[in-house]
Amino acid sequence: MCGIVGYVGRPGAPGAAAGGGAAVALEGLRRLEYRGYDSAGIAVVSEGAVAVRKRAGKLANLVELLDADPLPAAHTAIGHTRWATHGGPTDANAHPHVDGTGRVAVIHNGIVENFAALRAELRESGVEFTSETDTEVVAHLLGAQLERTGDLTEAMRAVCLRLEGAFTLLAVHADAPGVIVGARRNSPLVVGLGEGANYLGSDVAAFIAHTREALELGQDQVVTITPDAVDVVGFDGAPAQGRRFHVDWDASAAEKGGFPSFMAKEIHDQPQAIADTLLGRTDAGGRLQLDEMKISEAELRAVDKIVVIACGTAAYAGQVAKYAIEHWCRIPVEVELAHEFRYRDPVVSERTLVVAISQSGETMDTIMAVRHAREQGAKVLAICNTNGSTIPRESDAALYTHAGPEIAVASTKAFLAQITACYLLGLYLAQLRGNKFADEVADVLAQLHEVPGQVRQVLDGLEQVREIARYMADTRSVLFLGRHVGYPVAMEGALKLKELAYIHAEGFAAGELKHGPIALVEPGQPVFVVVPSPRGRDSLHSKVVSNIQEVRARGARTLVIAEQGDTEVEPYADVVIRIPRTSTLLSPLLAVVPLQVFACELATAKGLDVDQPRNLAKSVTVE
Ligand code: F6R
Repeated sequence: MCGIVGYVGRPGAPGAAAGGGAAVALEGLRRLEYRGYDSAGIAVVSEGAVAVRKRAGKLANLVELLDADPLPAAHTAIGHTRWATHGGPTDANAHPHVDGTGRVAVIHNGIVENFAALRAELRESGVEFTSETDTEVVAHLLGAQLERTGDLTEAMRAVCLRLEGAFTLLAVHADAPGVIVGARRNSPLVVGLGEGANYLGSDVAAFIAHTREALELGQDQVVTITPDAVDVVGFDGAPAQGRRFHVDWDASAAEKGGFPSFMAKEIHDQPQAIADTLLGRTDAGGRLQLDEMKISEAELRAVDKIVVIACGTAAYAGQVAKYAIEHWCRIPVEVELAHEFRYRDPVVSERTLVVAISQSGETMDTIMAVRHAREQGAKVLAICNTNGSTIPRESDAALYTHAGPEIAVASTKAFLAQITACYLLGLYLAQLRGNKFADEVADVLAQLHEVPGQVRQVLDGLEQVREIARYMADTRSVLFLGRHVGYPVAMEGALKLKELAYIHAEGFAAGELKHGPIALVEPGQPVFVVVPSPRGRDSLHSKVVSNIQEVRARGARTLVIAEQGDTEVEPYADVVIRIPRTSTLLSPLLAVVPLQVFACELATAKGLDVDQPRNLAKSVTVE
């Protein structure tokens, strides 16, 4: 999830920004830094040439470079702040990228799924690459098209037709001062409309300091901006129009996409986080292909045990994954809190695959566990959201979640992306080891691709949960019950409520109730219950329905998360929260969403800062 800004202005026009293109781009990047911050760069068009400055690391590094080596004065500029997907966070991989002539420069947000095939094709035609990114492919394709047509808009349109995946692209060309061409598919792009100046941004935060009039582009559209005009066409060349709107947010609300907090925004972004994590994982024949999986196929076939190491929410993602991986691959899976792992002399060998899950990639407990596992001869695969961070760097292989930067301290979208990545790993192993036929793998993948839309459906139907949360702002204790994959979901629901709303909360395996925790239930005690699908193993469903009855009989107020059409829960539920039908193994991706929203809303109703809860840090870099 990178940040993108573009600016074209007519010098002296009322809306043209003082300071010129590079200054406007830099200011936009400052406001977009929340979208990614592992490298940044700017390109300007000046005196018949394109000039580029880019640097790995925070924006401050780029500022330092610009101070030492300023860009020429220009009124056409594009800027990019990166959240690495293809290729680590280095100077070479930072955007903008240029073609072989250096006369066209491109920035990109998203993932070009077919970049490997395009790269091979370009290499064959003699192109030399200077980065590991998918974006550079676009720069070279554009360069080649421009040689043919000489028209940047036409070239962009032709190139987009060759790209698969999700992308927002901006391009400038040395021969076209005062022109920026943008394009979008499955990734956002907004135009800022000024007077004698126009802007482009991955969101309105990029240009909110200059204009509040904006145009949202539709899917598969190309936009050409000059200081005085904005023209939109579809990828098919047909004239098109964006949706015009007025932005009435202030700058800080703009960064949060109009949501009251980063947490609310990140919960809302979850469908995209899952969709992006699924992008680019299959080859042309639909076979699962995890390019980042650098452990040999022979070693993966020989694996006789998987140990997942992680902390907090990431460990709950691992617990969900255990059910799926064991079921699909018939390999035993242990899930261990990373800080416990190395102190108990764990039994690992060179046939053990250790999976380290971490959003930040910098959690010290997990880093130490990774080091210990490797010392014992195990292969370590990192599932991580932060390219270039310590955990993937120190692991044998990495599978990146593409959730984009998570700013709120408590994890939400990373959790769903981690489960998705674990499922990709499970299916890949099942395919490789022959536990599943290709059509079975394809079937689960197809179901996974439906999940983003289903999460959106859940998010759209949660007004009742928000109301309940506001009404329950004074609650002192909440219990969460689940069984099978619903058990880690219950624990995650409890964790979210503890850390956001500072309310005592416990997640239990529903079957464990009768062994002790049921003593906690007294009249009025709120109990959330995550109910498995009645279409799954029926004993599981009916057992959980019995558990609801047991707590209800003791006076509990039951808030039941159940699949659409599950009427059996109704007699015992004070409140039923519906989620769409999906398979049991995929249901955590839906069932956890109401619990996240409940915690976020309740904490907000208490007047708490949901983005920075007390006593917590986003990245726990001490043991
Ligand atoms: C809870 C939360 C934490 C993290 C844990 C691991 O909302 O955010 O429990 O999940 O500290 O962090 P990462 O995934 O960065 O290793």
